[in-house]
Amino acid sequence: MAFDLDLSLVDVRAACLDLRKGDIVAGPVNPGSFDLVTARAVLHHVADAEAAIANLVASLRPRGALLLIEPDFLPVSIAEPPEVRAFWDGWLEWSRERGIDYQIGRTLAPRLAALGLEQISGTAETAIYNGGSGWADYCIQTITELRGDLVSFGKLNDPLVEMFLGYCAGPTWWTQTIAFTAVHGCTPAAEQTASANRSARFRI
Ligand SMILES: C[S@@+](CC[C@H](N)C(=O)[O-])C[C@H]1O[C@@H](n2cnc3c(N)ncnc32)[C@H](O)[C@@H]1O
Repeated sequence: MAFDLDLSLVDVRAACLDLRKGDIVAGPVNPGSFDLVTARAVLHHVADAEAAIANLVASLRPRGALLLIEPDFLPVSIAEPPEVRAFWDGWLEWSRERGIDYQIGRTLAPRLAALGLEQISGTAETAIYNGGSGWADYCIQTITELRGDLVSFGKLNDPLVEMFLGYCAGPTWWTQTIAFTAVHGCTPAAEQTASANRSARFRI
């Protein structure tokens, strides 16, 4: 099953694929029924990531696996030169005000631990790129598309945007991009859940 708020860009149809439209913050899909649940590049956009992750976990069977893949903009905090860092600082302020959490990657493992998942581990991987590369082109396209909003929000100005676009065009400038953070864990076995519930009731 594939689930999204908006299915308008999905052009895959297959007999074995159940496409459903809905809001993952609103509630779990088929609670307790899936062996594997995965979400990629979704949670940094939702208004309540805590609720969304709890809903993803609630869809799992006992011993089911959850895999979350989300960005973390940690590598841009060491970008050089300092004016590029200033550009990214403005970008991150803009994203926070727009309700996008580009630092969510680092929060995934502790959130899964707080929900009682087991065998939690993960990796974060970034790309190293230079001006003129595919990654630089991706930045140029994204920033050009968002430029009006970025500048009108007051977190960035035209000279800073021009400076960044200039670096993205120069092959001698090397930098790092987002840390793509993949974290996974499993729900406990059914007996453990039942005994945890019994002891929770006992404590109450
Ligand atoms: C950056 S795209 C990622 C799409 C896809 N998961 C991928 O990795 O290519 C973010 C997706 O999250 C969906 N989305 C955002 N908020 C959502 C929510 N509350 N419930 C379900 N889907 C949501 C958007 O409609 C969009 O398709």
